[in-house]
Amino acid sequence: MTGVPWDASYDDGPAPWDVGRPQPAIVRVASDGGFVGAVLDAGCGTGENALHVASLGLAVLGIDVAETALAIAREKAHDRGIEVEFVADDALRLERVGRRFTTVLDCGLFHTFDLDERSRYVASLASVTEPDGTLYVLCFSDDGPDTGPHPVSQEELRAAFDLSSGWQVSAIEPDRIRTRFHDDGAPAWFTTIRRVGGGRVAAE
Ligand SMILES: C[S@@+](CC[C@H](N)C(=O)[O-])C[C@H]1O[C@@H](n2cnc3c(N)ncnc32)[C@H](O)[C@@H]1O
Repeated sequence: MTGVPWDASYDDGPAPWDVGRPQPAIVRVASDGGFVGAVLDAGCGTGENALHVASLGLAVLGIDVAETALAIAREKAHDRGIEVEFVADDALRLERVGRRFTTVLDCGLFHTFDLDERSRYVASLASVTEPDGTLYVLCFSDDGPDTGPHPVSQEELRAAFDLSSGWQVSAIEPDRIRTRFHDDGAPAWFTTIRRVGGGRVAAE
């Protein structure tokens, strides 16, 4: 389910979510000091959010399954003189990265996964997030009007990131995700989640 279809969406001009600048929610949290330590951007696309966080002096790894998106991201990093690593990998198998992160960002990835993939993804994220580390999930919300594709409810977020899977939701706040087809962005949840001890980790 991963790989080829995603890569194709970057072939013919910018994808609907590829707005050419970081999401305002990410800029706001970054300016509030919300990103610390080593940072992972899971499903980084063409890298605007990762590049913004890295421009503040943090070490950032962006991973994505779409090689075309990664090539664009690397070119932006080169052109802007910003140091960021962009690597092809599967967010459902992050344990293979072999590193841990203090802050993890998911901008627009969680809401693309079905129920089965979500539980694998949550375990995969747990395997690379430091204890007490922070995960930010910016996803389309079901609190319309004019919701984006695959809208998610607060209950779904709380069910996915619970104590038994090694996470505790600290806050779910209404926000917006800018897209190429919404004038003022689509309704979103900005979720702050803390990595707590224990929880399942992804199997090799
Ligand atoms: C909706 S886009 C969001 C991209 C980027 N975060 C942004 O805000 O522009 C979702 C991204 O997740 C990537 N993706 C989908 N499944 C993935 C997986 N299993 N592992 C890593 N990346 C994945 C896609 O290639 C795509 O770039």
